[in-house]
Amino acid sequence: MDGYAVWAEALEKRYGEKRALDGFDLAVREGTVHGLLGPNGAGKTTAVRILSTLIKPDGGRARVAGLDVFRQPREVRARIGLTGQYAAVDEVLTGRQNLEMFGRLFHLGGKRARLRAAELLERFDLTDAADRGVGKYSGGMRRRLDLAASMILAPAVLFLDEPTTGLDPRGRGEVWESVRALVASGTTVLLTTQYLDEADKLASRITVIDRGRAIADDTPDGLKDLVGGDRVEVVLAERTDIPRAVKVVARVCEGEPETDEGELRVHAPVTDRVAALTEVARTLQDEGVAVEDIGLRRPSLDDVFLRLTGHRTEISQEKGAAA
Ligand SMILES: Nc1ncnc2c1ncn2[C@@H]1O[C@H](COP(=O)(O)OP(=O)(O)OP(=O)(O)O)[C@@H](O)[C@H]1O
Ligand SMILES: [Mg+2]
Repeated sequence: MDGYAVWAEALEKRYGEKRALDGFDLAVREGTVHGLLGPNGAGKTTAVRILSTLIKPDGGRARVAGLDVFRQPREVRARIGLTGQYAAVDEVLTGRQNLEMFGRLFHLGGKRARLRAAELLERFDLTDAADRGVGKYSGGMRRRLDLAASMILAPAVLFLDEPTTGLDPRGRGEVWESVRALVASGTTVLLTTQYLDEADKLASRITVIDRGRAIADDTPDGLKDLVGGDRVEVVLAERTDIPRAVKVVARVCEGEPETDEGELRVHAPVTDRVAALTEVARTLQDEGVAVEDIGLRRPSLDDVFLRLTGHRTEISQEKGAAA
């Protein structure tokens, strides 16, 4: 367990018949960002709530920051921070007032609370907006304030439960920057997410969770290799061009091309991404194959799921059924 900031073994949590966690294992190295990746209802929030002492499991063991989560919950609480799936900041107060209030909640005393608030506003690039009401903040600013609030005591381990769900790309980018800065200052982060690209960008290791169990634990590259990594994808204008396009794609790309006849799509895995894309585009043009669309596609959580479990995530199954 040495060198791990979070260590959980065989965690169980039942709600009636429902097994929210069903023998869940997790090991997070100190000083890293670890991604916990899974679809809606997989058990991410349940795992985070257990590890942050908010709820008790029905079975299993867990250590956080070197302490037993169930025997030493108070000591654990003093070493962790938690940003929930739903923001906890007060809309009416300003950003600064929110942070000062959290500081006093943690018994910092007026002066230290003010200093810490100013420091965190600076760190999360909120100084200009500090004295505006939070009701007027953008989504990204709000999440940054939420992150700042969970950093009041500079925790050894920070749990971030879907910190970017519902944010636009700019807001997501801002939160990612803040997370990187935290880790650079020594905090270990466990981040739950439904987005493979988010886990890929931030985490050095990813645990994939499905129905309360870890179904994979790997580096982002390892997971992407499992699904064949990035793909070049061509959408054709004419069905009759499919065989010719398959030949071109097979010649240029490393992996076996796959065809989606209904959507006139031909795609194949690539490692040399941009070079392969350029080469496919050029060759198709030389051969007079009309192309509707061409691009690089990064694997999604859905692709990972399909490879690991043989089924799609339930959400996308529903979407598929509705379409
Ligand atoms: N308090 C509760 N009472 C009953 N069932 C619960 C409770 N909390 C969670 N569950 C169930 O346990 C399962 C796991 O839920 P959890 O919230 O941990 O999933 P999640 O991975 O965080 O999902 P999301 O991505 O939607 O946040 C779900 O089926 C959920 O309905
Ligand atoms: Mg959740």
